[in-house]
Amino acid sequence: MDFSEKDSVDAVLASFADTPDPRLREVVESLVRHLHGFLRETRPSIAEWERGIEFLTAIGQKCDEHRQEFILFSDVLGASMLVETMEAQRQAQDATASTVLGPFHVVRSPERALGDTIDSVGTGEPCLIEGSVADPDGSPVPGARIDVWQADDHGYYDVQVPDAQPLGNGRGLFTADDEGRFWFRSIVPAHYPIPTDGPVGALLAATKRHPYRPAHVHFIVEAPGYVPVTTHVFVQGSAYLDSDAVFAVKQSLVRDFAPSDDAATAARLGLPNPFRRARFDVVLQPAAGADR
Ligand SMILES: [Fe+2]
Repeated sequence: MDFSEKDSVDAVLASFADTPDPRLREVVESLVRHLHGFLRETRPSIAEWERGIEFLTAIGQKCDEHRQEFILFSDVLGASMLVETMEAQRQAQDATASTVLGPFHVVRSPERALGDTIDSVGTGEPCLIEGSVADPDGSPVPGARIDVWQADDHGYYDVQVPDAQPLGNGRGLFTADDEGRFWFRSIVPAHYPIPTDGPVGALLAATKRHPYRPAHVHFIVEAPGYVPVTTHVFVQGSAYLDSDAVFAVKQSLVRDFAPSDDAATAARLGLPNPFRRARFDVVLQPAAGADR
């Protein structure tokens, strides 16, 4: 039987019928059905299809050790956030909300001691970020690992501007104390455009979308026996909180980086007084069947 528009899905699904892994078979079959549906709906010319292939090729070619254009593509399509949101539905409602990983978790964060600063450049408004890690009942999670990374006061990550920031600037890996508490110094991050010098930027320009993300600090918090959470703390009052280019804002993650006049704390931690201060208490969901 000749290949036809009417029977294309059936023909291709039959070719995958012997896939041993049932999940792989389910995913591949769904991909075929939706891709063929997309093509029947949009009816691309061969030239347009080639342009689509070129676009995806350019995304891959833009990726390197420090640049992840495919994550960016997933982010601006809302795909990253949809996957995150569906994953969160599997978890308890009282755990800290998750949000996208983003494309800048490409450097291992330097191990730092509680109270250290993650900023080694010295521009920007100094701030203290403090919080706790607990389970949904409020019991602390001692020794939780807190991995943070953020842009600087100009909106750049270390890997974007290696001449201006040493690698590891704006990043830190902390271990919560015996009561699950953590605290570190930084600077208040700025809002920033996602990288626009690649194919994803070209897509945003062609569709008249702005590339900006509201100011935020990334967090991954994990501890044995708990479901890790990948999330952000957003800076209250930042531009673009209501139009994040990657759809990642959740109101429960917005925090006031309020001015604090606290000379004793400033002196103890080596901050100027007054300084900006934000609190982020994290609740981790126990992993199913975990033995803690
Ligand atoms: Fe970010």
